[in-house]
Amino acid sequence: MPRKPTKCFIDLGPGDGEKTIIPVQYALESGRYQLVSAVLVDCSDDMLNVAEKTLQRLSGYMPDKFRIKRFQTLFENLKNDEAFKKFIREHDIREWLFYGTTAGNFDPPILHGILVDNMLSGDRAQVGLHLYTEGRDDAIIKSYEGLAMRDVSFVGLKELAFADKDKEEMDYYVELTKREYEEFKEFDLGLLMAIKTFFRARKPMERGLVTLKAGDSLQAVLSIKYKEDQAIKVFEHKGKLVVLNKNGPLELLPEYKDDDISIIYMMKTGG
Ligand SMILES: C[S@@+](CC[C@H](N)C(=O)[O-])C[C@H]1O[C@@H](n2cnc3c(N)ncnc32)[C@H](O)[C@@H]1O
Repeated sequence: MPRKPTKCFIDLGPGDGEKTIIPVQYALESGRYQLVSAVLVDCSDDMLNVAEKTLQRLSGYMPDKFRIKRFQTLFENLKNDEAFKKFIREHDIREWLFYGTTAGNFDPPILHGILVDNMLSGDRAQVGLHLYTEGRDDAIIKSYEGLAMRDVSFVGLKELAFADKDKEEMDYYVELTKREYEEFKEFDLGLLMAIKTFFRARKPMERGLVTLKAGDSLQAVLSIKYKEDQAIKVFEHKGKLVVLNKNGPLELLPEYKDDDISIIYMMKTGG
């Protein structure tokens, strides 16, 4: 009998892993693969811990059929990570998951670039967006005010030579603003909803090239939340956008061919 193929899901920013498990379980239950791997890529070690626990628990602990591998790194550095490249090449079939990451929400060309820089011939990717819905501003702000987004936000400051202990000397806060963006002028989108996170120094601080007086703030994360019609305008420019299953669980979707890799865009309301 011919050997069954091995499959690997590469999740860029798995968060709590609740979405990663959906295609993983589907693959495990199909019986079509000798081995399924989940490759978790995230800049936050805390997020990787949570995602790994979710996957172990919900996959039913089957080390001979399913394994988890984690890479703590920025997406932007992935293409230079030899251990990562070696690991994913050991699989016959690769599928990339890019669900609702802050990097991708902001700028479709950046998101697209991260995928295209790392995908290999024949690979598939699914991209999910969290859409903005009117009337949910408080819920969005609350989710960004949590400890997880505070940690994620601080990663950028570390690149500027701030250290973990500086987090205790700074107040973290979130702002939601609506404005037009010059970068998206050609799409005629109107006002876009932008969520920004900041750290405010409680005392004077000098780190690397940055000097802050007490009360000065540094912006950390900027994430744009598109409304459905705005997302369609922006993403259809890059490829076909599939709007499916907006309020229910995510599902596996039909594919879109882009040269020899295929990337599927899908959208989900809320979040
Ligand atoms: C909003 S969460 C999305 C979680 C999950 N995919 C979901 O849809 O529920 C974004 C995740 O991406 C990670 N992340 C954001 N930007 C990143 C970057 N540039 N490099 C690596 N990880 C990043 C964060 O740490 C976080 O775990």
